[in-house]
Amino acid sequence: MKFFIDTANLSQIQEAHDMGVLDGVTTNPSLMAKEGIKGVENQRAHYVEICNIVQGDVSAEVIATDYEGMIKEGLELAALNPHIVVKVPCIAEGIKAIKYFTEHGIRTNCTLVFSVGQALLAAKAGAAYVSPFVGRLDDISEDGIALVAQIVEMYRYYGYTTQVLAASIRNTKHIIECVQAGADVATCPLSAIKGLLNHPLTDAGLAKFLEDYKKVNG
Ligand code: E4P
Repeated sequence: MKFFIDTANLSQIQEAHDMGVLDGVTTNPSLMAKEGIKGVENQRAHYVEICNIVQGDVSAEVIATDYEGMIKEGLELAALNPHIVVKVPCIAEGIKAIKYFTEHGIRTNCTLVFSVGQALLAAKAGAAYVSPFVGRLDDISEDGIALVAQIVEMYRYYGYTTQVLAASIRNTKHIIECVQAGADVATCPLSAIKGLLNHPLTDAGLAKFLEDYKKVNG
C-alpha cells in the first residue's frame, strides 16, 4: 500500500519524505488555508514547492464547481508539474471534467466520495484515484473502512484501474484497516504514519539490548 501525506505543511512533508516511506501528497482548500496560503499565484508556487520535495503524485484541488471553470483551472494546475494530479469533487460537473481530463492525458483524483455509486461514476469517467473519506463517515456513525472494502471489491470485479485512495484517515488503526481492506493508497496525517512505529515491546527490547551491551562494553 502506498502512503500519501494529507497536508500542505512543507516541514511535515519534508519530514515524511525523509523517513523514506512517502509516495505522494494530498492537499485540499482547507489544508492550504490552514497554512495561510492566499491567492492563486502563492497557491501555485506552493504546489511547485511540494512537488520539489516529493517525487510522487501531488493532488491539487480545483476551486471551480462548473465544468468550464474546472477545465480551465485543472489545465493550469496540471501544467505546473508532471506530478500534479487534479483533484475534482464528485459532483455531476466534476465527473464530466474528469472524463475530459482523462481524454486529454491529465490524471485526476475524484474527491469527497461517500458511496459505491459515486466511486463507480469516478471509475467510469477514468479517474486515476478515487478518495473515499473514511473518518468523515465514521464521524456520522457510518463505516468508512467498509466503504473502502466495497469499492476495492467492485473495482477488482469489473477490472477498473482507478486506484482506491483512502482519505480522511485519522489514526493508525484506520491505516491498518485500509491495508486489510486492500486500499491502494492511504493519505494520512504525519502523526498517524509515525504512530505505526509505536510498540512498547520494541522500546523495552531496545532498552534491554543497550543495557546488556553496556554491561560488557562499558
Ligand atoms: C482528502 O484528500 C482530504 O484532503 C482529507 O483526507 C480530508 O480529511 P479530513 O476529513 O480529516 O478533513
